[in-house]
Amino acid sequence: MAHHSFFLSLLILSLAATQGTLAVEYAVNDNTGNSGGGNRFRNEIGVDYSLQTLSSATGFIWRTFQQNNPAERKNVQKVTLFIENGDGVAFAINNEIHVNANYLGNYSGDVKTEFTGVLYHEMTHIWQWNGNGQAPGGLIEGIADFVRLKANYIPSHWVKPGQGGRWDQGYDVTARFLDYCNSLRNGFVAELNKKMRTGYSANYFVELLGKTVDQLWSDYKAKYGN
Ligand SMILES: *[C@@H]1O[C@H](CO)[C@@H](O)[C@H](O)[C@H]1NC(C)=O
Repeated sequence: MAHHSFFLSLLILSLAATQGTLAVEYAVNDNTGNSGGGNRFRNEIGVDYSLQTLSSATGFIWRTFQQNNPAERKNVQKVTLFIENGDGVAFAINNEIHVNANYLGNYSGDVKTEFTGVLYHEMTHIWQWNGNGQAPGGLIEGIADFVRLKANYIPSHWVKPGQGGRWDQGYDVTARFLDYCNSLRNGFVAELNKKMRTGYSANYFVELLGKTVDQLWSDYKAKYGN
């Protein structure tokens, strides 16, 4: 019995050690000084909420991509969020997410929900595969917005299903189209992302759905009467 619990403790210890090395660390760097956007970030969002959201976004993305074990995921140990007085909305680079405080400061509406959606989008860039640099940029952005759509954090100005000019237009247009593809085969986006670990081919759509991406786009437009 003593033997038994000794080995059990060893097992638990080594599990804890493995989890420890695999856990992702998060940090927030607020470089906004006394700007209006920085004040709004601290009053209406805050560092604690940001840390929670970075962590919950990661869990959601791993589930959406069906990456149940670490070997399937990108090897990222730490993600740092920078809140800064910049331009545009946000971007992700080198396991960093940069959010523009001026954007937050000027946002009309629920800034916390918008911030959350932006983090889900940017965090997807941290974790998604990019076809070894060969995937179309519009697809990369579309997958990031697909995750945001599935998490239910999309803004009201998004296109409606069926709208847009090209499947790889990016962002909301491509996210809506991927959602249609995913409705034809549950887990389609997860499988597409898995294939994009090593490269990219438009033929991935044929392999997963039996039709070319152009045919799928026409079917999608026809479904919504466009
Ligand atoms: C709104 O954006 C402008 C331009 O980026 C910036 O100078 C200003 O400080 C912003 N307002 C707030 C409240 O953040």
